[in-house]
Amino acid sequence: MKTTISVIKADIGSIAGHAVPSRQVMGAVKDYVKKSSLVIDFRVFSVGDDISILMTHGQGADNPLIHKLAWDAFKEGTAVAKEQGLYGAGQDLLVDSFSGNVRGAGPASAEMEIDERPAEPFIVFAADKTDPGAYNLPLYSSFADPMHNSGLMLSPSMFKGFTFTIMDVSHTEGDRIIRLNTPEEIYEIAALLRDNQRYVVESIHSRMSGHIAAVVSTSRLHNIAGKYTGKDDPVMIVRTQGSFPATGEVLSPFEICHYVAGFMRGSHVGPLTPVKVGQEVSYFDGPPLVSAQGFCVRNGKLTDSVDLFADDPFWDHVRKKAAKKAIAIREQGFSGASMLGMNELEYGGIVEKLGTLDKRFEIRKK
Ligand code: F6R
Ligand code: MG
Ligand code: MG
Repeated sequence: MKTTISVIKADIGSIAGHAVPSRQVMGAVKDYVKKSSLVIDFRVFSVGDDISILMTHGQGADNPLIHKLAWDAFKEGTAVAKEQGLYGAGQDLLVDSFSGNVRGAGPASAEMEIDERPAEPFIVFAADKTDPGAYNLPLYSSFADPMHNSGLMLSPSMFKGFTFTIMDVSHTEGDRIIRLNTPEEIYEIAALLRDNQRYVVESIHSRMSGHIAAVVSTSRLHNIAGKYTGKDDPVMIVRTQGSFPATGEVLSPFEICHYVAGFMRGSHVGPLTPVKVGQEVSYFDGPPLVSAQGFCVRNGKLTDSVDLFADDPFWDHVRKKAAKKAIAIREQGFSGASMLGMNELEYGGIVEKLGTLDKRFEIRKK
């Protein structure tokens, strides 16, 4: 039997602004999924204001029953969020009638169907206050760059490289994708991935086995709703070890805390900061956060998780660096590189303001 690993996430309301969901809302989501006989195993967790449901099952990716289960669980959670008066209750549930797939309806999903290896280690990433392009650089680094993945030099099972499937997320009429191979096309891959807002890694496959290695949620709320509805807060699943990068090689690039889109009002630039699962958000609605949980799965049954950015003191050191990078960019307030370009600003108010000002400009007479 094949095993499907699905992560579906949504922001359905938080305490104190966009900080953290309540225990009661998390409990309602959990209780709902627990009642289902569809899933073999599941976990419910939060990072920032987002709740993720990790499920293993035998239904394949994009299965309407699994998507409906997640949607209905988020609906249950939303009812509790409304009762409690949480901020932004039901924020990511953008459609009134659910049509069988969460894609385009608000929540983000990353799913892969696999033949389990005798030991099947994988990592589930969840990020808040950023968008799916935040994973571009880490994925490039761990799958295409020997500076982070020494296995590309040392392990024959990776010598053939990987196929990157990259999506043009600005194309909203359908999935516009391109497939590029490492190592021969790494410059082409870099040329696309430098633009985090337009080109996003959707998945990566091993060229040796053809097996899927990584999958990212690529939805952009900005493009779906055509207006500000919060940032896209992406989830990602990465299989590790053997013919895939080692767990540590996948985590290595997260030490960079590279600057990504998001932060306050989804309109700024901040360092992607590795955090523990359940981390709440405070300073300037950010900085952008990412959590990583390691698992093994056997016949669909999940082991306990390792919270990979939590207890190891190495990441405390990295967080100090991230805080310094956050302060460095915040010191320049609204100026230049600290904010996103006009197209990416999540609030339309500035467009109106600039329109009004535009009328007041005059050409000076000679
Ligand atoms: C970022 C985010 C927050 C809000 C901000 C203002 O993704 O959700 O930074 O944009 O807290 O929220 P509103 O406009 O709802 O008051
Ligand atoms: Mg939010
Ligand atoms: Mg969020």
